[in-house]
Amino acid sequence: MSGKYILETKGLNVGYGPIHVIYDLDFKVPDGEVTIIVGPNGVGKTTLLKAIMGLCTVYSGEVVFGGKVINKLPPYERTKMGIGYMPQVGNIFSRLSVAENLKMAAYTQTNVAVIQDKMEFVFNLFPRLKDFMPRSAGTLSGGERQMLAEGMVLMRDPKIMMVDEPTAGLMPKLVNDVMRQLEKMAEDTGLPIVLVEQRARRALAVGDWSYMMRGGRFTYEGKADELLNHPLLNEMYLGAVEVRDLKTVRE
Ligand SMILES: Nc1ncnc2c1ncn2[C@@H]1O[C@H](COP(=O)(O)OP(=O)(O)OP(=O)(O)O)[C@@H](O)[C@H]1O
Ligand SMILES: [Mg+2]
Repeated sequence: MSGKYILETKGLNVGYGPIHVIYDLDFKVPDGEVTIIVGPNGVGKTTLLKAIMGLCTVYSGEVVFGGKVINKLPPYERTKMGIGYMPQVGNIFSRLSVAENLKMAAYTQTNVAVIQDKMEFVFNLFPRLKDFMPRSAGTLSGGERQMLAEGMVLMRDPKIMMVDEPTAGLMPKLVNDVMRQLEKMAEDTGLPIVLVEQRARRALAVGDWSYMMRGGRFTYEGKADELLNHPLLNEMYLGAVEVRDLKTVRE
């Protein structure tokens, strides 16, 4: 890998057909760190993750993974390279059992013994899932579903994990459970994690580096704990202002 980032976008412009959503985005994810993206509804957070997966139109700029420009690769090649993506919605098959979901998720793997190993790995991380194996995934609670969805990404042996709003629509108690799950996953696997969250304060508390997004651009880049105490964060909640505080050099 060249450089210190496992994943980067350089001057990325992205949209859906003619609808331009993301402007000139330089996004950097160092190996082994938790990188947080916060921002209100509709600013392009999901679109950035989709662009990294190859799921929307890149007008210009580069997506670089492990030192390689991957703009031209189809989504399944990006998955095979190790980009793990847990989408905001539709991330489990609710009619299949928990065990079937996990097996299905390992479609890049044909060796049964390896699939078993991966399942054991997921169960070590999330022991509750093992008890749920025969249950249909649609009967799981919101927090348990997120656990399964994260487990499904881990079945593909990712080198990075991108998680889009895992706490959306969950009640406060479950929000804490899900965030603790993520912290445990980060600690136990050492994987670099990109976490998109509207519940900014809780997410920033688990993050290393952070970005704030408004109108398809980053309006803040800096240490997660610094953003926690930055006036921009309150302004985001209040839905006001367009102030920029970009630190382009990081150490
Ligand atoms: N398939 C699509 N076709 C056209 N426009 C889209 C499409 N998907 C998203 N958009 C638009 O792109 C913009 C950014 O959407 P995106 O889903 O990236 O926002 P977000 O920051 O993830 O918001 P949220 O916090 O609500 O999930 C929005 O204006 C949205 O309407
Ligand atoms: Mg979104």
